[in-house]
Amino acid sequence: MKKSHKDKIVVVGAGNVGEAIAYTLMVRVQANDIVLVDVNEDRAKGAALDIAHGTSFFKQVWVRQGGYEECADAQMIIITAGIARKPGQTRLDLAKTNVSIVKSITENIMKYAKNPLILVVSNPADITTMAVQQVSGLPAERVIGSGTSLDTARFRYILSEKLHVNIEDINAYILGEHGDSQVPIYSSANVGGFPLEEYAGQVGAQLDKKAIAERTKNGGAEVIKLKGATFYGIAMAVSNIVETIMKDDNALLPVAHVLDESFGEWAGVAISLPCRLGWEGIVQTHRIPMDENEKKLMDHSAELLKEFAKQALA
Ligand code: LAC
Repeated sequence: MKKSHKDKIVVVGAGNVGEAIAYTLMVRVQANDIVLVDVNEDRAKGAALDIAHGTSFFKQVWVRQGGYEECADAQMIIITAGIARKPGQTRLDLAKTNVSIVKSITENIMKYAKNPLILVVSNPADITTMAVQQVSGLPAERVIGSGTSLDTARFRYILSEKLHVNIEDINAYILGEHGDSQVPIYSSANVGGFPLEEYAGQVGAQLDKKAIAERTKNGGAEVIKLKGATFYGIAMAVSNIVETIMKDDNALLPVAHVLDESFGEWAGVAISLPCRLGWEGIVQTHRIPMDENEKKLMDHSAELLKEFAKQALA
C-alpha cells in the first residue's frame, strides 16, 4: 500500500466505540485526517465536531464526517458499527444482526477502496472478521480483527495489580476467541523475563490463576454491568494496533485474522494468535509454544468459532 501524502483513517460507526476510537487516534496524532462514517449522519457530524472543537489543545488533525467514498484513499478503515451487548448477553448473541450490518458496510467500502486494510471491531469480533474477509475477498492478512488485544490488556492489568509491578514488565497473552472460550497462556507468561511463578514466589504473591482468568474473561461484562457499555478499553486497544500498522512497527500483538491451511484444525477461522503487524497488515502469524491444556483449549475455541460461523455466515 503506497504511503499517500496524508495519513487518513476512516472509522465506520460513530457510536460510543467509534467515537472513542476517533478521539483516541486524534489525541495520539495517529492520523492527520480522521473520517467518521455512520448511517446516522448527524451522529457522525456531532461526534466529529465535538472532537474537532478540541483540536487547538493538541495537534492539527482533521476530524470530520464523511461518506464511503472517503475509503478510496484511506490507509486504514476501522469497522465498529453494530448493536452492543446488554448485561447478561454474550458477544455471540449479537452475531445475526452484526454480521448482516458488517456485510453491508463491507460491500459499501469495496465500492470505493481498491485494496483496503480493514480493522474489524464489531462484536462478535472474530465472526465479523470472517464475514468481512469473506465479503471483501481481501487477503486475510489485510482483514484484522481486534481479537483478544483487549483481553490481553485486561490480563496484564490484573497481573500487574496482583504483583504490584509495572505493567510494561508483564508479558502474557490471552489468545483464541474474543469471548468466553478465550485462552490464558500462563505457560510462557513472564515478568521482566522471570517466569510468572518464579516472580510471584520472589514477591510472595499468591496467584489464583483460575480466578485471574475468570476476571479477565468477564472484564467486559463487569464494565457493562457497572456503566452500561465498554468503549475506552477497546479504543485504546485499537489505537495500539493502529500505531503498529501506521508506523510499520513490526510489533507482536494478539489479533485475529482468518488462518490459512498451515494452521490445520484452526484453518478458516479468525482466532487470535501473536501476529507481527506492519504497513501491509499482518506480516507474520506466530505459533506461540503452548502446554497440552492450552492447546486443548485453543482447539475448543477454534472449533466453537468454526461451528458458530457455519450458521452465522450462511
Ligand atoms: C469488550 C468489547 C470490546 O470486551 O467486546 O469490552
